[in-house]
Amino acid sequence: MSETFIARTGVMGWPVAHSRSPAIHGHWLRVYGLRGSYQLCPVQPDEVKGFMQRLRSGELRGVNVTVPHKEAVMAHLDHIDELARSIGAVNTITREEDGSLHGTNTDAYGFIAHLKKEVPHWKDALAHPVILGAGGAARGVLKALLDAGAQHVIVTNRTFEHAQALAQVFGEQVEARPWDEREKRLADASLLVNTTSLGMQGKPPLELSLEALPASAVVYDIVYAPLETQLLADANAKGCATVDGLGMLLYQAQKAFERWWGILPEVTPELRKLVLEAA
Ligand code: ATR
Repeated sequence: MSETFIARTGVMGWPVAHSRSPAIHGHWLRVYGLRGSYQLCPVQPDEVKGFMQRLRSGELRGVNVTVPHKEAVMAHLDHIDELARSIGAVNTITREEDGSLHGTNTDAYGFIAHLKKEVPHWKDALAHPVILGAGGAARGVLKALLDAGAQHVIVTNRTFEHAQALAQVFGEQVEARPWDEREKRLADASLLVNTTSLGMQGKPPLELSLEALPASAVVYDIVYAPLETQLLADANAKGCATVDGLGMLLYQAQKAFERWWGILPEVTPELRKLVLEAA
């Protein structure tokens, strides 16, 4: 490796301009004094194949994959680990020394790592989780909860068939319920997770009364812009423990960074602040 060699990493998506990942990885590259870069890679859907060839040729050491490519890239990889297969999506690709491409998924890790960090009694929260939404994010959350020991998870979604499809993939530990039952289902919930985009800046609000939810429940919103969503504000007002979506973003990045650089970087309050300011 020459003195001037800089190993490149980045995030591929479309659109990708608003990604906070460059701020996160850029911070760690500086903190750990690594000769590397992390860049935005705008890749349109019809450019995925060509971009994967560039990756294979060694232009980059690895990339994160974001919307809308997390499933599409899978057809172009040489190896996909069991975790990514069971989630059905890849968010981290590594170019190995021999030029082969390896895909994994660090979203499930990001979700559970942040829950563990924020909630000392996180194991109690696994008793009766309720997930709102059945898209790609829900799959990562579901995998994380089942791997952490949850025995029975309710998934409620606007399009009931999408919730049913998740129950089919993940088995009988997952129960699909119609969207209009979502408030009723909160009565027994130990953990409520919003995996929909509702409540995000520019999206419709998540209209959900938490009246039936026990104050002992943990409420986790994977939306991080705004950081305190209406859901989290309502949950705080009830006295529920709350977990915001920024930590999930930081911890999924932590695992990807470790995969590429062999260092598990620290998630610090300073980094949280920096990423919030990068918005
Ligand atoms: P991601 O892969 O990031 O999870 P997605 O696949 O588009 O994104 O999923 C978004 C989730 O938000 C889905 O569960 C979606 O419900 P549908 O399966 O019915 O599409 C949910 N969602 C989006 N807009 C919604 C709305 N206005 N009301 C209720 N749910 C909504």
